[in-house]
Amino acid sequence: MRWRPCTACVVLAALPLGGCAGIQSALQPMGREAAEIYRLLLTVTAVSVVITLLVLGLIAVVLWGPQRWRDRIAAHWVILGGGIVLPVVVLSVLLAYGLAVLEAGTTRPAHGNGPAIIIVGKRWWWQVTYVTADGRRIESANELRLPVGRPVRLLLESDNVIHSFWAPTLAGKLDMIPGRTNRITVEAQEAGVSRGQCAEYCGGPHALMAFSVVAMPADAYDAWLDSEARPAQQPESEQALRGRALFLANGCGGCHTVRGTTANGVIGPDLTHVGARRSLGAGTLPNDAEAFARWIRHNQTIKPDNLMPAYAYLAQEELAAVATYLEGLD
Ligand code: CUA
Repeated sequence: MRWRPCTACVVLAALPLGGCAGIQSALQPMGREAAEIYRLLLTVTAVSVVITLLVLGLIAVVLWGPQRWRDRIAAHWVILGGGIVLPVVVLSVLLAYGLAVLEAGTTRPAHGNGPAIIIVGKRWWWQVTYVTADGRRIESANELRLPVGRPVRLLLESDNVIHSFWAPTLAGKLDMIPGRTNRITVEAQEAGVSRGQCAEYCGGPHALMAFSVVAMPADAYDAWLDSEARPAQQPESEQALRGRALFLANGCGGCHTVRGTTANGVIGPDLTHVGARRSLGAGTLPNDAEAFARWIRHNQTIKPDNLMPAYAYLAQEELAAVATYLEGLD
């Protein structure tokens, strides 16, 4: 009988491969460091395949080959060479290559005083502060924008527990440790959007601690950074104006900053341009008015134990107004 793989088996076997594609894949590098890691992966895989085939071939000869070949394989120098010298040489070369690649992002000198981005791991979101060459600090959250072709220093910190910054399309992961600043230099090589994720268990909603990576052409990035530095837009509609009044009256400004208003809290994400971000709640919800309303009322169900209280007492109409205001902050 001819061997035929069952359809279900093929589908099941192919399913895990789905995890290799998409916006959060180390197999689709968009940055220089990730490309180096990808080359390392291909090299190690290729060497492993060659060695595995070689060993399987030798086993086949030993089991079923002619006596003359078996005697050759049993020779002293084959045992010594294949069993000790070859593994030592191959593993040492791969180890040196691997260490060189893993050091690449953390030791590559980024433009000394050039721009840097400080990313602080919070409970459970990312504070992202862009520091420009002239010393301006522009605060944002849960989204990392990068100029294509320019190496950027990322300074990784935490003010609570250990998190791990991981944007697989950009570079390897690096821990964010309280009381320390870990540095990595990344360089986006093509424009596009990808996704990053906290890679160190940091408590309850660790799995909901994600962020977007948006690599933009350098000119567009500079223009974006200029607009990000501006104070918040003035609301235009009646509803958005009412939303702003409710936002301020309900104490939201105690935790959130909206530049250009009296809201200047530093506990939660800066919301000055929150409407322009790609997600809410650090990659938890899409960014639209309905999601804002859901988040404000049900955030403790959506992301349990985050530091924001659930505003269950707001009327539907009030929620809608605040949501309209926030969504308009682009
Ligand atoms: Cu932060 Cu896991």
